[in-house]
Amino acid sequence: MISVLFVCLGNICRSPMAEAVLRHKIAQKGLNEKITVDSAGTGDWHIGKAPHEGTRKLLDDWGISYEGMLARQVENRDFTDFDYIVAMDNSNVANLRKLPGGQDANILKFMDLLPSEKLREVPDPYFTGNFEEVYRLIDAGCEVLLDRIIEEKL
Ligand code: 4NP
Repeated sequence: MISVLFVCLGNICRSPMAEAVLRHKIAQKGLNEKITVDSAGTGDWHIGKAPHEGTRKLLDDWGISYEGMLARQVENRDFTDFDYIVAMDNSNVANLRKLPGGQDANILKFMDLLPSEKLREVPDPYFTGNFEEVYRLIDAGCEVLLDRIIEEKL
C-alpha cells in the first residue's frame, strides 16, 4: 500500500480538503487497494474536529465525501509510516522539520506540484476565507500528485 499524508496547520481546512479530493480521485481510478490517504495538522487546537464548514461546503458542492474525517496532530511516527508527506505552506515544512524525524524526512511542498502557478504556498483559508481558490489549487495539485505516484510506485 502506498501512503500519502497531507499536512497543514490546523487540519481542518486545507489538508482535509486535499485528503478528501485525492481519495476521490483514487477511487475514480479504481486504486483504493493501492493508495491510502490521511491528513494531520502541526497544531493541536482542533484535534477531534470535523473539517471547517468552508471546506465541507466545497466538498459538498463537488460531491466529494469527507465522512468520518476528524482532525489529528502530526506524530513522530508519521515520518516513517508515510511514503509521501505533502505540506501546504512553508511554515508547515518548518514546523515538520523541528519534530523528531522531521529533519531528514522527504517532505514535498504542495505548490511544487504546480510549478506554473504564481502562488508558491497554498493560502490559508482560515484567514483568507477563500476556500474556492484553495479548492482549485488542491484539485489541480492532487491530479499531478496521483499521476506522479502512479508513475513512481505502481
Ligand atoms: P488549516 O487552517 O491549517 O488549513 O487547517 C487553519 C485552521 C485553524 C487555524 C489556523 C489555520 N487556527 O489558528 O486555529
